Amino acid sequence: MTNDTGQGTITAEVQSGIQVIRMVRKDKKNALSQSMYGALTEAFENGDQDADIKVHLLTGSDGVFTSGNDIGDFLAQTNGGRAISKSTNVLRFINALPEIKKPVVAAVDGPAIGIGTTLLLHCDLIFATPESVFQTPFVDLGLVPEAASSLLMPQRLGYNRAFEMLVMSDVLSAQTLHEAGFVSAVVAPDALMETAMKAASRLAAKPDAAVQLARTLMRGDLAPIRSRMAEETQAFIQRLGSKEARAAFEAFLSKGS
Ligand code: COA
Repeated sequence: MTNDTGQGTITAEVQSGIQVIRMVRKDKKNALSQSMYGALTEAFENGDQDADIKVHLLTGSDGVFTSGNDIGDFLAQTNGGRAISKSTNVLRFINALPEIKKPVVAAVDGPAIGIGTTLLLHCDLIFATPESVFQTPFVDLGLVPEAASSLLMPQRLGYNRAFEMLVMSDVLSAQTLHEAGFVSAVVAPDALMETAMKAASRLAAKPDAAVQLARTLMRGDLAPIRSRMAEETQAFIQRLGSKEARAAFEAFLSKGS
């Protein structure tokens, strides 16, 4: 668990072979800070090493999955004071996503924005409530897609629907993504965790080596994913320094004032 010093918390609890990883930062709609990215990476890496854990289950809290990267953090990176580099926790997290060995179930309620949607491309089963909204507003923020979403989203949703998300920044509902085969089931908020835990329990009861091998085979060659991530990172860093990105971050952050 991270310390909550206004930077949010990641909790990780193991229940019957299932590691429940929860993003918690209520006052910022679970926006991901550097410390949260670090803790998320560690939770997945530690869980993959722990023989008692068979399945990861990722979820949010307080009616929000996550509002994505902390926009204040993005702004800080445009100030020249802190260039994004391979050692930052966000890149550690993104690069760790395709390397996760054990199955990942996601339980989504409320907004899943930016990396909140793109990380789902690395999950195996996604359950979502009707209140869930999926959006990747990278281009509207002057940025480009990340987490290999420019490769994986067209593969999963088809090019045109992926374009609606990744370039038009359209908001897609859980129902639309269920019809597209991306969301496994749309369930009421009070049944979300039970449904996701039931699926995770079914997975945990299966022969784990067979599950992991089947998953690895289904995911195929990771080389194109890794190389697309590297290309996206270069473009992302370039766009973080753009005047459009800076203006978009400042506009969002001044909204409440
Ligand atoms: N980074 C930093 N702060 C964020 C944030 C983010 N990604 N998302 C929300 N917040 C903050 C808001 O600035 C606000 O802070 P304040 O109370 O100090 O003013 C607080 O969280 C509540 O957000 P608010 O926008 O008032 O809530 P909402 O219910 O009206 O909308 C969202 C929720 C998630 C739809 C909306 O906050 C949003 O679109 N967030 C930005 C998402 C985004 O662009 N992420 C980056 C993708 S690359």
